[in-house]
Amino acid sequence: MTTLRHDIELPNNIPKLLMEKHANYLISYGTNKDEYNYSQTEHMRMSGIYWGLTALDLMGKLEQTNKEEVLEFIGQCQSDSGGISASIQHDPHLLYTLSAVQILCMFDALDVINVDKVVSYVKERQRYDGSFMGDQWGEVDVRFSFCAVATLSLLNRLDAIDVEQAVQFVLKCMNFDGGFGSKPGSESHAGLIYCCVGLLSITGHLHLIDADRLGWWLCERQLPSGGLNGRPEKLPDVCYSWWVLSALTILGRLHWIDKKGLVDYILICQDVETGGFSDRPGDMVDPFHTLFGLTALSLLDKNFSLKPINPTYCMPEYIIDRLGLKPSRLD
Ligand code: FPP
Ligand code: ZN
Repeated sequence: MTTLRHDIELPNNIPKLLMEKHANYLISYGTNKDEYNYSQTEHMRMSGIYWGLTALDLMGKLEQTNKEEVLEFIGQCQSDSGGISASIQHDPHLLYTLSAVQILCMFDALDVINVDKVVSYVKERQRYDGSFMGDQWGEVDVRFSFCAVATLSLLNRLDAIDVEQAVQFVLKCMNFDGGFGSKPGSESHAGLIYCCVGLLSITGHLHLIDADRLGWWLCERQLPSGGLNGRPEKLPDVCYSWWVLSALTILGRLHWIDKKGLVDYILICQDVETGGFSDRPGDMVDPFHTLFGLTALSLLDKNFSLKPINPTYCMPEYIIDRLGLKPSRLD
């Protein structure tokens, strides 16, 4: 008989935040293009660049990146349809369109793409029921609803889509436990809760959420180790520190979790030699978990000297302020 392992044990020694090592890890990840790991992630390159740059910006190191190279790459990834792809000559997708627009907002360089064409690409992905397809092939998921709404709001062009219908579709994905799944009838999942709460925050519809019920479900993601999982019976994972905490912050219920326990869990997921964070202690580090370890620490405690992160857009707060955006939050 197999025994399921539902949590991990915390070691006695918890390292401090190794900011310098994380910055070096991310900078060399983007420059060592011959590395095996780099070549294996081409299909998600645009998001990878967004993860790395956002993490570096939070640590005050954005200037150490090659801005011109990134801007040229993004320009080359916009297709005739207006959508943006993960890499040159890949198919465009809403996921990478959002990542590209996030990067361009960080660099204040939206002029490297044709914004009108991005808007029409996003608009064309909306279906009769308000949902969004991720690309031309037709997969529907609330992640794509979030990407569409976040992209257009960053471009100040939300008027291009039917926002009310987009909200109605998200509400159909709400479950009895207060959470949200990927489509109507799908189980609640913390990553998808971030997408739905984020969309309702951007569009000013947070009052439609049962915040106490959802807040409780989100708090139940915390395990004895202090780490958070994304669904019941799953192992803790650093990225859920972000998906759960961002939603709790938007709902005004961040104080419902044990902050110290979660900080300790995130800190033990650092690789003290190479820098970077992994999902669980001892696993391989990657830029995705490195970003979400840092964003969660930014939400948890300002003493880490990380820049504040905006919980709705997962972008540095000063960029959201610069754009004049005010995504809503509950008290
Ligand atoms: C977990 O995925 C995470 C999600 C489902 C949410 C993804 C959200 C987006 C793509 C929207 C854009 C995000 C940002 C930060 C701007 P997983 O495949 O790791 O889930 P699993 O743990 O269940 O395998
Ligand atoms: Zn993860």
